Amino acid sequence: MVTTIVALSAVLAAGVLLWWRHLDGVIYPGQQVDPLAGVPAELRTAALILTDARHLSMMWPVLGLGSEGNWPNVLSAELIESGAVIDVQMVGGQKLSDWTNDETTDALAQYLGVPKVLVSQTSPGFLRVELRTFDTLAASVAAPSVESTGVDLEAVETGIREDGRLWLLRVLYAHILLAGATGSGKGSVLWSIIRGLGPAIKAGFVDIWMADPKGGMEFGRGEKLWVRFQWTADGILAMLTEAVQVMENRASALRSAGVRKHVPTTDAPLILIIIDEAAALSAYASREQRTEFERLLGLLLSQGRAVGVSVIAALQDPSKETMPFRQLFPVRIGLRLDEPTQTSMVHGQGSKDRGALCHEIPDTTPGVGYVGEDGTTEFVRVRAYWIDDDQADAIVDAYAPVPAVTSAGAEDDFDPSTFDPDHIPGEDDEQGWAA
Ligand SMILES: Nc1ncnc2c1ncn2[C@@H]1O[C@H](COP(=O)(O)OP(=O)(O)OP(=O)(O)O)[C@@H](O)[C@H]1O
Ligand SMILES: [Mg+2]
Repeated sequence: MVTTIVALSAVLAAGVLLWWRHLDGVIYPGQQVDPLAGVPAELRTAALILTDARHLSMMWPVLGLGSEGNWPNVLSAELIESGAVIDVQMVGGQKLSDWTNDETTDALAQYLGVPKVLVSQTSPGFLRVELRTFDTLAASVAAPSVESTGVDLEAVETGIREDGRLWLLRVLYAHILLAGATGSGKGSVLWSIIRGLGPAIKAGFVDIWMADPKGGMEFGRGEKLWVRFQWTADGILAMLTEAVQVMENRASALRSAGVRKHVPTTDAPLILIIIDEAAALSAYASREQRTEFERLLGLLLSQGRAVGVSVIAALQDPSKETMPFRQLFPVRIGLRLDEPTQTSMVHGQGSKDRGALCHEIPDTTPGVGYVGEDGTTEFVRVRAYWIDDDQADAIVDAYAPVPAVTSAGAEDDFDPSTFDPDHIPGEDDEQGWAA
């Protein structure tokens, strides 16, 4: 037992030092320091407890998270923008759910005197305990004004992450599933992505094919920006059929060239198919149309990525009935959802224990969500830029490709065989130009 406490103290001392270092920089030999100087007031209780073996030896048994001689190890503590993060090693015999269940996280928050505690697993036996004193995503974030910068199609600026960094989203070589209850901000995520892609759209490297089965209401304002724009069942099916055709042509061209991935060019741009609320299609499509829709979508999702045909599907209800191919989306975004089961539908079984809490997002923070990607087990909490109607119009104006025909209107009826190079407008007209 003595060795345990010594080991624990050493670990805790290291933890304090780490915490302290993060705050203040260098300690001079012999200098009297308050090891918690600089810890924000709202985290002082937690810091005092977590850095004191006696306090911890009282806390763990009370919370049912350890017993004498068998305490969890507090490995490190770090201040972050939203509060603090503690790395903890569980004790043998514990289950992840012993830590992540709502009662335990609530009891930890009360004991440590912080508004919210979130626990997720970092690797088997190890946990990330976040003490959240401040929600960095509580305020909406206006989109920066339109720019003409380069765009990395595999890292498109869409908003901010809770750690303050930019939220960058993979669009090229990916498909994105975007689920969220009504009013959760799906529209703002889509407009943020379009804004992020803007310069590449204008330069001709990205074509947006928009399907708005809700009647073209929301995305009609961007008509100038979409290379295809459909809202009827037949129109959407024709558009997807065409996309499958392009996909197959590109795939055979790649095969014969022995190339694995298509790199978008202005001649063969990234085709980004956006479907806002696929389930709305079901409301008026026939059974045959729905079957055809699923067939085409299945083809695009399974074969489109490498050839530069990507799909973003936005859904209110992520159930199997509305979206049978959830596993074919390498990037999944869960905004506010009503039920924990819906979070699992988007992010997979056990995602709640790994930190995806879409069902706990309040309806006061539209645009907030959890992003999960194939290849990573962790989720990133993000907020999309807030794009109002005026900004959407500015995005459309700034990035709409310049039309090939310079002026519209009268020229539409122009018949080259009637062209008279000597004609002076008004001269031979009945009324005459001086009349
Ligand atoms: N990122 C955001 N930041 C701040 N406010 C937002 C954000 N996104 C959306 N909102 C607010 O929430 C409202 C609903 O957002 P939005 O229309 O994008 O939701 P939705 O998920 O598309 O809803 P629906 O399923 O009904 O189409 C917006 O009118 C706006 O006021
Ligand atoms: Mg919407």
